[in-house]
Amino acid sequence: MIVTIDGVAASGKSSVSSGVAQALGVPYVSSGLLYRAVTLLGLNAGADLADPSALLPLLSAVRLEPLASGNRVWNADHDLTADLHSTRVDGGVSTVAALPEIREWVDAQLRALPAPLVAEGRDMGTNVFPHAPHKFYLTASPRVRAERRARERPEDIPAIEAALTERDRQDTTQSAPAPDARIIDTGPLTLQGVIDTILNDLR
Ligand code: C5P
Repeated sequence: MIVTIDGVAASGKSSVSSGVAQALGVPYVSSGLLYRAVTLLGLNAGADLADPSALLPLLSAVRLEPLASGNRVWNADHDLTADLHSTRVDGGVSTVAALPEIREWVDAQLRALPAPLVAEGRDMGTNVFPHAPHKFYLTASPRVRAERRARERPEDIPAIEAALTERDRQDTTQSAPAPDARIIDTGPLTLQGVIDTILNDLR
């Protein structure tokens, strides 16, 4: 069984997916972390983030460790996870995610993972796992999402909101909900409320 949970930036996908996966006793995978890892390695190498031939050679030792409690991304024996949610990575990741060669690399990593799992991202239900029997798509207004993110990062809400809106715009191509996805507005719900909505639907 595969459950896909897609949605816009900072809609709570990772926390919701982790909660759903833990309740089901299966791993979850965050596809965004792989795009973030490519971006981080590209930035650290001084590579052109729009040039796939500069990025692909950096990825041979990158590995996603999908745990129900939280994913980790490794480059050989170096744990990249703590550095993947910086403003610097946020600013470059949409450029990297627009490259077909990088999308193919990410998709191959994800499809190699054994089911059952909960897969989270932008195009899990449309592109990577189109035959998944259970699909969800999370939304919330830019302001609500910026307020949530401000609790994790020391930046002011209007700046976060502007950056999120810009990232949504850059991610539009891969971010459409699957026609058979259930759309959930997480704005009025708590984290547990979103998790319960999904679990009830699965039952
Ligand atoms: O989910 P998260 O915000 O961590 O994703 C970071 C970025 O990775 C997104 O803004 C998007 O550019 C890219 N992404 C994507 N397709 C996915 C997951 C993430 O293009 N399935």
